[in-house]
Amino acid sequence: MKIEVRCYSRGGGTAKIANAIADEAGCLVNMMDDKLDGAVDLMFLGSGVYAGKMGRPVYEFIEKLSAEYTGKIILFATATSIESALKTCQTVAALLREKGFNVDEESFQCPGKFLLANRSRPDQGDIGHAASFAKKMMQK
Ligand SMILES: Cc1cc2nc3c(=O)[nH]c(=O)nc-3n(C[C@H](O)[C@H](O)[C@H](O)COP(=O)(O)O)c2cc1C
Repeated sequence: MKIEVRCYSRGGGTAKIANAIADEAGCLVNMMDDKLDGAVDLMFLGSGVYAGKMGRPVYEFIEKLSAEYTGKIILFATATSIESALKTCQTVAALLREKGFNVDEESFQCPGKFLLANRSRPDQGDIGHAASFAKKMMQK
């Protein structure tokens, strides 16, 4: 099974989660502008949340992505507010489904630091949760 992890992270928080998922999956993390390399069975796709959206490169990446060569997509996000992270994942999932992609109902959210909020997040506990989530999704 070919697994890919794609991440956009301005501040490095979401990248920590992406790395935990990639370690569990035994692959490297690709950035949004890394080239597409053939068909993928499972794609973990994540971003920080900026003004209620994933980063612009995520939407640009989605425009280039073909449903024909992409198996299941699993979304993840970090944000100051976990509700904002969930809502953003749900909005991106709806956008992807409209375009014909298979998106898992489950996604992963984690608090991320912003100014004085959540200063130590994602922490080791969050990284453990991300790894467990990845393991569960790969066994699904
Ligand atoms: C410009 C900007 C806008 C943000 N907007 C939101 C937001 O709308 N909702 C939220 O919960 N967090 C927001 N945050 C906090 C980020 O989602 C949080 O810091 C996230 O972990 C960033 O991920 P990164 O470190 O991978 O860039 C914002 C942060 C920045 C810098």
